[in-house]
Amino acid sequence: MKKLNKKINFKIASDGSSASGKTTGGKLISKKFNMKFLSSGSLYRFCALKIIENNNDYNYHFIKKIVKSITLKKLQNKKIYSPEVAKLSSIIAKKKFVRSALKSFQVNFIKKSRLVIVEGRDIGSVIMPNADLKLFFTCSVKEKARRRLKEFKKKNTKITLNQVEKSLIQRDKDDTNRKISPLIMSKNAVLVDTTKLSIKQMEIKLSNLVKNSIKEKYGNL
Ligand code: C5P
Repeated sequence: MKKLNKKINFKIASDGSSASGKTTGGKLISKKFNMKFLSSGSLYRFCALKIIENNNDYNYHFIKKIVKSITLKKLQNKKIYSPEVAKLSSIIAKKKFVRSALKSFQVNFIKKSRLVIVEGRDIGSVIMPNADLKLFFTCSVKEKARRRLKEFKKKNTKITLNQVEKSLIQRDKDDTNRKISPLIMSKNAVLVDTTKLSIKQMEIKLSNLVKNSIKEKYGNL
């Protein structure tokens, strides 16, 4: 089933807290099944980066202009993964006009894709409520902080384990408690706890979930 039949339509919504493994898992699945992949967090991060470059000034028109300029290539900008950008992305994610501009981008991207996996906080609940498969990632905060610190170290970002842990806890709290589109596990989502999983184990688990779900929709291919 590695190369999916040209007639298949299969869309995956993947949600979860910060650093829970959504992006790593999503990229593995997209590679394995040749699906398009979008990290919606990178959209919020990109807007936050542009706001910082604009002296922290932004309004509806500024966001509209930024969203119009977004390309998948621009979302690969390494600067969007700094602690400063992460913090601001979570703050602007509370604004209705930011969310609705980015919702249009995501809905458009999904519409154009036959095979797609999108990850974020509100994908299964708001962006893709009719997804074929919904995943919800979770992981202990200690393990999440350890993983994030490793990534920061690779990029020579000066930050301590304690600071990483604190900022993850704060961001998860804000994302879960905000009024609009909070982080929530949809009723029909499958819980994936990555705390004790190696990358290989995660890949096997996710592959089986996707294969079984495709079989449910299309029968044996
Ligand atoms: O997933 P990532 O950590 O890159 O997301 C950065 C921030 O963007 C999150 O903390 C969250 O506030 C916001 N976000 C969101 N809704 C999404 C994806 C990300 O509010 N679907």
